[in-house]
Amino acid sequence: MTPIFRFASTENHPMRGPRQHSPSISYRYFTESARSRCRHGFSIAWPYRPSRIGRSALHPVGNARRMGKDNYPNTGRLRHMPIQTYALHPGFAAEASYRDLSERLDDTVIAAIGAALKTYPVLVFRDQHLTDAQLRDFALRFGPLEIGRPAARPGRRRLAIPQIGDVSNLDEDGKVRALTDKRRLDSLGNRLWHTDASYMPVPVVFGFLHAVTLPPPSPFGNGETEFADMRAAYDALPQATRDAIDPLVAEHDIFWSRAQIGFTDFEPGDREKYPPSPQRLVRRHPVTGRKNLYLSAHASHIVGWPVADGRLLLLDLTSHATQPGFVYSHDWRVGDLLIWDNRCTMHRGRPHDEMQPRDLRRATMLDTASTLDEAA
Ligand SMILES: [Fe+2]
Repeated sequence: MTPIFRFASTENHPMRGPRQHSPSISYRYFTESARSRCRHGFSIAWPYRPSRIGRSALHPVGNARRMGKDNYPNTGRLRHMPIQTYALHPGFAAEASYRDLSERLDDTVIAAIGAALKTYPVLVFRDQHLTDAQLRDFALRFGPLEIGRPAARPGRRRLAIPQIGDVSNLDEDGKVRALTDKRRLDSLGNRLWHTDASYMPVPVVFGFLHAVTLPPPSPFGNGETEFADMRAAYDALPQATRDAIDPLVAEHDIFWSRAQIGFTDFEPGDREKYPPSPQRLVRRHPVTGRKNLYLSAHASHIVGWPVADGRLLLLDLTSHATQPGFVYSHDWRVGDLLIWDNRCTMHRGRPHDEMQPRDLRRATMLDTASTLDEAA
């Protein structure tokens, strides 16, 4: 029998789309040659074989049916399959399933998420509901956490835990900030393509962003977050260009990125607290060994080049790296938890209704060394 492979599309995915599985689906389509992906789009941990005694407990759909459930609440506990992934953007972004990330998770689950992030540096978990403490504790399983620039400022804050970044349009009292609010204007710099904290001497690794409250759709956008695959962008450059940019170092500066949108109203002392930082223009991922561009709106110029030449090169590379083919755009739902690898991706926020509350919470894992100390 010739196997028939029909990979799931977004619209018929059983976890996401309106279409439910047809009970008439035959499992004859699963064969050993299907390797590690079934027709639902799930990666499976070992070759699935059809069985005369029923559907395998290790297959998420088979298991859910066996349990008489229409979702996959049990799959997280299955042996060999701590999580399943479903590609949203080939080789770059995936939806991952796990019942409840607010629980105290087994090390195998954390390891499985880490492994999935090697393949998919943007990972989406749906229907999670974590308190700030639970988000902090979950992120801490991956490494030490950053206290971001806004949380490091003196004064009252809306969120109690300093490691939880306030990605919202709300003030200290939970009210929507005015359009002219200084904190809001500063945060608008995140609408430019960037990697988080690249202006720091030692930048960050994983971002964990959790949607708590979302505004209704607006004429200017729905607050999507877009991610660009900096590995694919690097691979797509001509070899001669790659050779030429490999040894370059860019200077990253928060004052430069904010100046691009006309924001210069920093606190006294910020210039001394956040001086520019040099970063490799091309990084080799320490886990996968794959090279990628390391760009950001914070990147001001190329060290050793005339400022204008460096700035134009950075503009060219950013335009190249953010072409639609390299970009995944995430439409937020309340309960989403996104994890992304800042070392090999860029991201930006999109406009939304500024009159309505939008509340996302972020934890960010620190790196351990400068990009200049990484292997070339
Ligand atoms: Fe960001």
